[in-house]
Amino acid sequence: METRHQSILITGASSGIGRQLALDYAAQGIRVYACGRSAERLAYLQTLSENIVPLSFDVTERGQVRDTLADLSPLPTLWVINAGDCEYIDDGVIDAALIERVMQVNVVGTANVLEAIQSHLGQAHHVVIVSSIAGEVALPRAEAYGASKAAITYLARTLQLDWKPRGVKVSCVFPGFVKTPLTDKNDFDMPMIVTTEDASVAIRKGIDKQQSSIYFPKRFTSLFRIISLFPFRWQTWLVSRLIAN
Ligand SMILES: NC(=O)c1ccc[n+]([C@@H]2O[C@H](COP(=O)([O-])OP(=O)(O)OC[C@H]3O[C@@H](n4cnc5c(N)ncnc54)[C@H](OP(=O)(O)O)[C@@H]3O)[C@@H](O)[C@H]2O)c1
Repeated sequence: METRHQSILITGASSGIGRQLALDYAAQGIRVYACGRSAERLAYLQTLSENIVPLSFDVTERGQVRDTLADLSPLPTLWVINAGDCEYIDDGVIDAALIERVMQVNVVGTANVLEAIQSHLGQAHHVVIVSSIAGEVALPRAEAYGASKAAITYLARTLQLDWKPRGVKVSCVFPGFVKTPLTDKNDFDMPMIVTTEDASVAIRKGIDKQQSSIYFPKRFTSLFRIISLFPFRWQTWLVSRLIAN
């Protein structure tokens, strides 16, 4: 799979989907700025490819994000904003601190990165925001995670309108279940779960085709997209049959 980009930045590259994307792009000879908090895991990633440049920062720390991303040379033309976290609500008991933590990483973290890179962006730059199919339909216990992903999807969709005049392409990624440390914590069945290798292929294909929305795996995400068109009470019933807690 060829790409026109020579230099790419990926947040959340120390683990899971982002790590696989970083390795796959680096294997194509592309310089990859691999971001995450864990300097140790990023340093190990660097030993796997000389094309990996580790950048350690916390996406929730606005100043840290701004300072780290201020001077990148060569400047990336593809920016994959993928860092994220998931925590679930138990027994329907709202835990505001938990919701705040998830929103900080997934929503504010995404906004911090977008703010820091916006002055770098121009014609033919491509910004890819990793959301989730979980933002499309209400899932059990996902009050925090689902809401954060619905917010990111809206953010991405709005940027698709507002950055178009500048020639900046914005894509939004909607993964189903992917086997990563994030989903290894789940104690429920995850239908049609795919590997990080599959995820990387699907995302890179979508990026190459400049798709505005990148859905994978197709069968699972298509099912969710159809369910999202039904009345809400049917959605709840269908989802409870698809994802058993
Ligand atoms: N796996 C799935 O089934 C699935 C489905 C839909 C959407 N997604 C989305 O895909 C993205 C990647 O998920 P994954 O499954 O690959 O998870 P993962 O293996 O847990 O990786 C998450 C990445 O985000 C980074 N990260 C987390 N908090 C951070 C922070 N405060 N500052 C900087 N980096 C931070 C982590 O790096 P450090 O720990 O080094 O900071 C790690 O590299 C997430 O946005 C997730 O919501 C995943």
